[in-house]
Amino acid sequence: MDQPKAPPPLILLVEDDPGIRRLCDRALRAWGLRTEAATGPEQALPLLNRLTPDLVLWGLPLATADGLELLRRLEDCLDAPPMVVAASHDERDEALRLLAGGAYALLDKPLDNLELLRHTVNRGLEWRTLRQQRYRYHARLQQDVDARTAELRDLSQHLEHAREEEKRRIAKELHDELGMTLTALFMDLNWLREKLRDADEPVTCRLTSMHTLLEGAVKTSRRIIRDLRPSVLDNLGLIAALEWQAVEFNARYRIPCRVEHRGDDNGLSDTTRITLFRIFQEALTNVARHAGAKEIRAALTLTHGRAALSVHDDGSGFDPARVSPASHGLLGMRERLHQCGGKLTIESAPGRGTRLCAALPLQPQEVPA
Ligand SMILES: Nc1ncnc2c1ncn2[C@@H]1O[C@H](COP(=O)(O)OP(=O)(O)O)[C@@H](O)[C@H]1O
Ligand SMILES: [Mg+2]
Repeated sequence: MDQPKAPPPLILLVEDDPGIRRLCDRALRAWGLRTEAATGPEQALPLLNRLTPDLVLWGLPLATADGLELLRRLEDCLDAPPMVVAASHDERDEALRLLAGGAYALLDKPLDNLELLRHTVNRGLEWRTLRQQRYRYHARLQQDVDARTAELRDLSQHLEHAREEEKRRIAKELHDELGMTLTALFMDLNWLREKLRDADEPVTCRLTSMHTLLEGAVKTSRRIIRDLRPSVLDNLGLIAALEWQAVEFNARYRIPCRVEHRGDDNGLSDTTRITLFRIFQEALTNVARHAGAKEIRAALTLTHGRAALSVHDDGSGFDPARVSPASHGLLGMRERLHQCGGKLTIESAPGRGTRLCAALPLQPQEVPA
């Protein structure tokens, strides 16, 4: 089926001199264009909004009519038509100001050079077509970028979820299967040691060494299980898990970490718990790696349908605007929070410590009645 033919371009002619208006109107129509005329700005502005012309030919005396105001309005339209200004010789300065402000072209009044008018109008219309194409291209590009960003966000959310599930599954399997085997081995070994208490020294030595090895294996497996998924998070909740993590951190890095809390963590969803817990872990790791801090203060508030976790260290601080795009820790925190409708804020400056705050809205079922 044939596409309906587009109507000819529409020119808005703003001119108070009836002679010039008639001349231009006739010429423009003779060149196959549509025209609409206005005799003053109060008429021109509503027409501009209603008709969305393809080009404006502005011939009003510049001292009396506010051409700059019109230009500003044109700039505000997404689909702004070009403006051709017709000015008499003594209006040159004002006309040049309009050109500098974004008018498309300047013509001399009384517009008796019709060839020049025709050429300027045609060029203006071509310019407009190119600009519209550029707008459309940008709009399409933006749509593509938005769609791709949404896809990547979905994928990242899916992967994060799958990773947590996988960690939880491995932790459970290690705990149930390996843990049981190690416990059974331990009991058997103790039984053997009991039975062979009076055996030769090489035998008892070997049994003692086996015992030490087995103890090491049990400790290692417990550590791995905890790192994968601390059972305290599932069994005792977020507050207990943060406190436990703070103690572990202090034991490992010798940096005291105080955790304060306000509100009830009983109804928190798995997603909220794991999101805030992982952010806490990453924030502590950053303090240990980068801050050289003496003390950390963390606070969890669960009030007004919102969870906020802040971690404040008195270390070296940094300029958040200059973080390398290759650093993924802070980016990961942001992304995790974004997925729950939350937000990360960082206040830091070199020499001034760092305060990081992760805030997210709670679902109605997470908030105590
Ligand atoms: N608590 C902090 N104190 C000082 N600098 C920090 C702190 N947290 C983050 N930074 C700075 O921000 C950068 C980015 O952190 P992050 O995204 O976690 O990446 P990474 O830890 O892998 O470098 C770090 O390299 C560090 O320079
Ligand atoms: Mg990091």
